[in-house]
Amino acid sequence: MLRSFLIYLSKAAWAQKIATSWGLAWKVASRFVAGTKLSEAMIIVHELNAKGINVTLDHLGEHINTPDEAQQATDDIFATLDALGADATARGNVSIKLTQIGMGLDERICAESLERILARARQCKTFVRLDIEDTPYTDKTINLYYAMREKGYDNIGMAVQAYLYRAEADIRRMLQDKTRIRIVKGAYNEPPEKAFPKKADVDANYDLLAKILLDASLANQSAASQDGRFPPLPAIASHDEKRIAFVKQYAEKIGLPKNGFEFQMLYGIRRDLQEQLAKEGYAVRVYVPFGAQWYPYFVRRLAEKPANLWFFISNFFKG
Ligand code: FDA
Repeated sequence: MLRSFLIYLSKAAWAQKIATSWGLAWKVASRFVAGTKLSEAMIIVHELNAKGINVTLDHLGEHINTPDEAQQATDDIFATLDALGADATARGNVSIKLTQIGMGLDERICAESLERILARARQCKTFVRLDIEDTPYTDKTINLYYAMREKGYDNIGMAVQAYLYRAEADIRRMLQDKTRIRIVKGAYNEPPEKAFPKKADVDANYDLLAKILLDASLANQSAASQDGRFPPLPAIASHDEKRIAFVKQYAEKIGLPKNGFEFQMLYGIRRDLQEQLAKEGYAVRVYVPFGAQWYPYFVRRLAEKPANLWFFISNFFKG
């Protein structure tokens, strides 16, 4: 109930206006967002790299309303790619949302922008992961992914949400083309016709999907690239210690090396666990969001953990 309300708020323009005009909101949000500028995010890239952790950079944005906004978002993504291109020591790649570059506005603009982004990423010797949004965009995202593969781009990967009933079928299909897949539990409101309503079922499905991906990685001898930019086939994106323990055990059981998969976590969440896994020799990548459009991302993080919300509210009354 609270989660659904917060996810509603994450999309409400009126709530965004109130929250972003309140200075203290940024103070709380900055626990999860690396800064508003690319230069600030690049400092974080190097700090994490120094701890043996790779990065994926997300210049925040989603659901733009005009072609000009889509162009601006594409230019922002170019700037992030160029920063990585100019800095061969930065162990990082990029994550993007297709609604950020016009998927909800004009699919032709979105497809053209995505192709330009992939071409630029290729020049900058890095990789682009498509985040996965709510179900009106699932098929469209997968279709565009395949369109880009057909055009010869292999520096692109997908994400799949374990809360969706369709997740296993999607993963099995995408593995046929050796798609690099990030599995997540899922961060949006979905109806019970499309997604498991119970957390226990989502967790069980997550483990099943992880198993399928680890088996595929072993069969294909997939591995993280030396420069920290290209991920192996499976990215296990979760802060859930039980899911992480399951993956470690299963990988060991089948003899999959530690660089045959990577753990992914969000900036500002379970830093202790991120560093511990890196010290144990696992490939770890932290998702580092930055930029002025932090509001929807931040409110989804509040929705995931009620304690974050109480921290936010107590600051509101103090502030
Ligand atoms: P779960 O929610 O069960 O949390 C397990 C534990 O982790 C909690 O008990 C708590 O300790 C900690 N934790 C989790 N969230 C926290 C928070 N916000 N603040 C503080 N502690 C928290 N979703 C999506 O729909 N599309 C996408 O493309 C992505 N991409 C993505 C990339 C990466 C790298 C990650 C880690 C996650 C995503 N997600 C996502 C978000 C994902 O769907 C999910 O909402 C969150 O990861 C929370 O789920 P957990 O797996 O962490 O488990």
